[in-house]
Amino acid sequence: MSTQERPPSGPPRKEDRQYFATAAKGTEGALRDELRELRMPKVRAARGGVGFAGGPEHAMRACLRSRIALRVLESVASFRAASSDSLYEGTAAVDWRRWIDHTGTVAVSATEKDSVFGHTGFIAQRIKDAVVDRLRRETGDRPDVDRTDPDLHIVARIVNDSVELFVDFAGEPLSRRGYRTEAGEAPVRETLAAAILRLSGFTPGRPVVDPMCGSGTFPIEAAMWAEGVPAGGRKSFGFQRWQGFDSHARALWQTECERAQQFANPVPTSVRGSDRDGEMIRIARANAERAGVAPEFTARALADLDRPEPETLFVLNPPYGKRIAQDQRAYADLARFLDRAAGYTVAVLSADLWLPRVLSCRADSEHTLFNGDVECRLYRWNPS
Ligand SMILES: C[S@@+](CC[C@H](N)C(=O)[O-])C[C@H]1O[C@@H](n2cnc3c(N)ncnc32)[C@H](O)[C@@H]1O
Repeated sequence: MSTQERPPSGPPRKEDRQYFATAAKGTEGALRDELRELRMPKVRAARGGVGFAGGPEHAMRACLRSRIALRVLESVASFRAASSDSLYEGTAAVDWRRWIDHTGTVAVSATEKDSVFGHTGFIAQRIKDAVVDRLRRETGDRPDVDRTDPDLHIVARIVNDSVELFVDFAGEPLSRRGYRTEAGEAPVRETLAAAILRLSGFTPGRPVVDPMCGSGTFPIEAAMWAEGVPAGGRKSFGFQRWQGFDSHARALWQTECERAQQFANPVPTSVRGSDRDGEMIRIARANAERAGVAPEFTARALADLDRPEPETLFVLNPPYGKRIAQDQRAYADLARFLDRAAGYTVAVLSADLWLPRVLSCRADSEHTLFNGDVECRLYRWNPS
């Protein structure tokens, strides 16, 4: 068994590293389009995300500016392993000091399909042992495991006996932008909200309204996009904690931050959110302030909404779940709203796969998405 390790650190040749930006299932196409707009090289959509190639500056750019990616992984080794020992040896062949030394912390996550290992917990444990043992051999001490906030997050993917190891540039998932410190019931993830806006036809300049805005995720994401606020602007990232984040890498990062400002290109856009619950409006405003944007938020029931300008996109996720009676009321309001929505586009995210039938209103299009593990549909109506 031989491990194919990617080239060691130091200034890379142009476009020779392989990256994979992960995304919620169903949003891969939206992420591909976004990464192309961000001028990533060799972009190709795959299941669960989008591959691209390039230098570390491209991975940094994805962390800072992608609104849809969940994680940005660099492929660092691939090998075959049909036994626990070969998994250990293949992992131990990688020079992990490129990322951490014994003072750093590590965590491993794994996925597998049709492997001899079966259990992802076992795979993660074996890989962690190999990393820790190699670093102890080389430095005289072992790094600690920290599952919640590691300096180095290693991701392993095993299909049959093919193992691929990745390091996670993002660290904390990119969905946690840092502005949503308060939320109501069933908030949609920030990255999914950004993907839904794109899939629904939002572009900066197009008026957008979320009439059931809860903690404000759709309006905040739309306003950040329209104003060119980088999605990851409030965050720090995993790569900033690595040994390899040296003066060369810092200079690349500095340039990416400057480029994000230089290309911000704000487009005046009417972005509004409303909710019948005044407390949610207070929360949405506070979240928006933390995000550095100011959509217009109003406490108002769907039935009382004014008719906005033509071409407006409505985007929302109505309540769904345990409180059936309340859901039915929201559905009745939504059905009446759709009756009055001629000339607009209405995009609704719902885990209710019968929603159009319940509303007696056939959707013009449906797109399957996953909010975490929950299968959802994005329904679109263009009532005329
Ligand atoms: C699932 S939550 C929306 C979550 C939101 N997208 C977020 O990310 O926080 C649904 C929201 O719809 C609001 N709502 C329910 N019925 C409504 C109605 N008839 N008019 C306006 N808001 C309504 C609820 O108060 C709740 O905040």
